[in-house]
Amino acid sequence: MLKSCKIAIFASGLGTNALALKRAYKDFYSIDPILITDNPKSPICEEGILIPFTNKEEHEATLLRILFENKIDWLLLAGYMRILSANFIAMFSSWHNNKNQILNIHPSLLPKYKGKDAYLQAWNSKDSHTGVSVHLVTEVLDSGDILVQIPFLIRRDIDLEQFITESKKIENDLYMQVLRRIFQEEIPTIKFQEGVSFATPI
Ligand code: GAR
Repeated sequence: MLKSCKIAIFASGLGTNALALKRAYKDFYSIDPILITDNPKSPICEEGILIPFTNKEEHEATLLRILFENKIDWLLLAGYMRILSANFIAMFSSWHNNKNQILNIHPSLLPKYKGKDAYLQAWNSKDSHTGVSVHLVTEVLDSGDILVQIPFLIRRDIDLEQFITESKKIENDLYMQVLRRIFQEEIPTIKFQEGVSFATPI
């Protein structure tokens, strides 16, 4: 088991995934993770830090500074609706021996239905199943190696709203499981390297 693991969670929306992760983290380490939102209307404002979007460069610089000062090991995107730049990812990775420790959850069986409204896209298709993917983050939207993916039936006996609510519960559980696998060292972690400097990688 990892004696300590510092995580930060970024969320832009309702925050069901972020709150599920927060619960799982607190159950394990008895402290709160860092929660950040860019959306003044998100319920996450009450739970964490609001960093309103100004421009990409300034926004990412502010986020990186917080991650650096808190010696964050893993960054988990949970309905964070912005694409992180290659520079952001490289800089965060450079604090962990260049290992990518940024995850995202996406509500589809990637590479299907990238981007926004993935549940709606699946609902409007003729597919019998859709699913949820947890993957490493790259600078390309909803791409990067997939860690885990689970399929489930698109139930046609309920309406779209119910389908999304039900599916999000599956997402919340899956993301919590992934986080617990990190704590249990089934998914290896390179800890934030003491002594690294806050400098942009080349
Ligand atoms: C979730 O369904 C998440 O998978 C999705 O946004 C929703 C956020 O809900 N993310 C993406 O579509 C990423 N491309 P939440 O705020 O209740 O966690």
